[in-house]
Amino acid sequence: MTAQAHSRVRSGLTIWLTGLSGAGKTTLASLLTDRLREQRQPVEWLDGDELRRSLGRGLGFSREDRFENIRRAVYLAGMLNRHGVITIVSVISPYADMRSYARRKLPGFVEVYVDCPLPVCETRDVKGLYARARSGEIPAFTGISDPYEAPDSAELTLRTAEHTPEECIEELVDWLTKNRPDQL
Ligand code: ADX
Repeated sequence: MTAQAHSRVRSGLTIWLTGLSGAGKTTLASLLTDRLREQRQPVEWLDGDELRRSLGRGLGFSREDRFENIRRAVYLAGMLNRHGVITIVSVISPYADMRSYARRKLPGFVEVYVDCPLPVCETRDVKGLYARARSGEIPAFTGISDPYEAPDSAELTLRTAEHTPEECIEELVDWLTKNRPDQL
């Protein structure tokens, strides 16, 4: 094992993308996954919608269920990290205390705030969920009828209303290269 791979096994790296629905977490996570795979890095991506179809099946959107969803993602990320796998997690994770839980549990936690103003997310409405939330059809929808606590201690903030996804990825990869060189 190379010294580089060895240090990755020791501390691990989880890139945690938090932000509103429609902010661009999935787009950025997908591009970052591709980029790291091109570099032949071992990487796994845990996405909110996909997690909820698998490990989180049956969980709803109460504060408790959202926390349980995050707890499961953290458990899996920790396990992957211990095996030297860089893990990208893209989940709304709306409460500051769930993100500090993830930070406490994961030694290589990097919090990335995917910042996009609510009106822009709502205009994008990629999945048509904001319209349904506004009409009351979907209760407790993040940003509309449920809170989103914006991070105040994220390692990095990416503003997706102002920059293209490619620009955001460049910024993120630059940050990782400068600040987590032993993990890449
Ligand atoms: S989290 O709050 O537990 O971190 P997660 O990222 O897993 O959320 O799931 C969010 C996804 O679930 C959204 O992208 C959207 O597709 C869907 N969703 C369905 N109902 C809600 C809701 N009430 N609030 C937020 N997202 C919802």
